[in-house]
Amino acid sequence: MTKKIIIDTDPGVDDALAITLAFNSPELDVIGLTTVFGNVAVERSTANALILSQFSSYPVPVYQGHGQPMQRNTPNYPDFVHGADGFGNIDWPASDKQAESQHAVDFMIEQIRANPGQITLVALGPLTNLGRALEQAPDIAELVEEVVIMGGAVYTPGNVSPVAEANIIGDPDAADKVMTARWPLVMVGLDVTSQVLLSKEQTAAIARANPDQGKLLHQACDFYIDFYRNELGIPGCMVHDPLTLAYLIDPSLFELMSGPIRVANDGLAMGQTIFATAGRHYPHPGWENQPNQQVCLKVDKQRALDLVIQRLSTPTSLD
Ligand code: RIB
Ligand code: CA
Repeated sequence: MTKKIIIDTDPGVDDALAITLAFNSPELDVIGLTTVFGNVAVERSTANALILSQFSSYPVPVYQGHGQPMQRNTPNYPDFVHGADGFGNIDWPASDKQAESQHAVDFMIEQIRANPGQITLVALGPLTNLGRALEQAPDIAELVEEVVIMGGAVYTPGNVSPVAEANIIGDPDAADKVMTARWPLVMVGLDVTSQVLLSKEQTAAIARANPDQGKLLHQACDFYIDFYRNELGIPGCMVHDPLTLAYLIDPSLFELMSGPIRVANDGLAMGQTIFATAGRHYPHPGWENQPNQQVCLKVDKQRALDLVIQRLSTPTSLD
């Protein structure tokens, strides 16, 4: 039974890898891409999502979402990580397709209500669209099949501050709303995504095996991998977003723990995802009666990387 998913995304080089992986996975049926600000402005996210939607062997509509956080000004875009164009400054030709006129949040709500228990929300960017959807339609929490997010860091340092990961600090208010909603949520954070690296040699091999999709991915990864090598001295890029899709394809790759998650929304700890193991009671306010969510704490690195590379190397046929 294929899993119907909506991918909320800020493409973004690793988003491009993740979306292509999803298109090439028969277990998944991508019913729409919804865009959000994050790696780039939402208009650029949308243009990039339209380019990527052409990699699918079946029609995938694109819906533009929010361009700024729920309660704050838009943070600076990390063009030093993903390039000003979000694809590593490769100047890829724009798609001739248009985004749908419906707002991303309205699309999410409509699809979840029309398909109770069948839609999985996969969030690869700041959680503004999901936060707004909960605000507009709280009933979706009990109608969604599952929410799987790339974001956060529990026992691993952050990547925007010592404690904050980019998607969470991109909209900490939305993130806390999403983490404390009564829906089944899985957090795929830096605890696992920082352990799995993709090298230039591997993206070159993907481009040789699968030129139609791999040419853009290999070119875009060049800039992204250089960032990781120059900033962190590591030989490849962390596959944050692709690993989130890998969870949906094969959850057995991961070990998870259950407990409430809260998000700090000010001061030096802003954007920190704070995880409390299930069942532990704390006198300090903010922890009582919070829902238990799932956090990925371990990953089978080699199996996960093999899955990502294999799927990116093998486009699903058009027939
Ligand atoms: O921290 C990594 C996350 O932030 C990834 O989703 C990346 O694309 C950026 O959105
Ligand atoms: Ca992303």
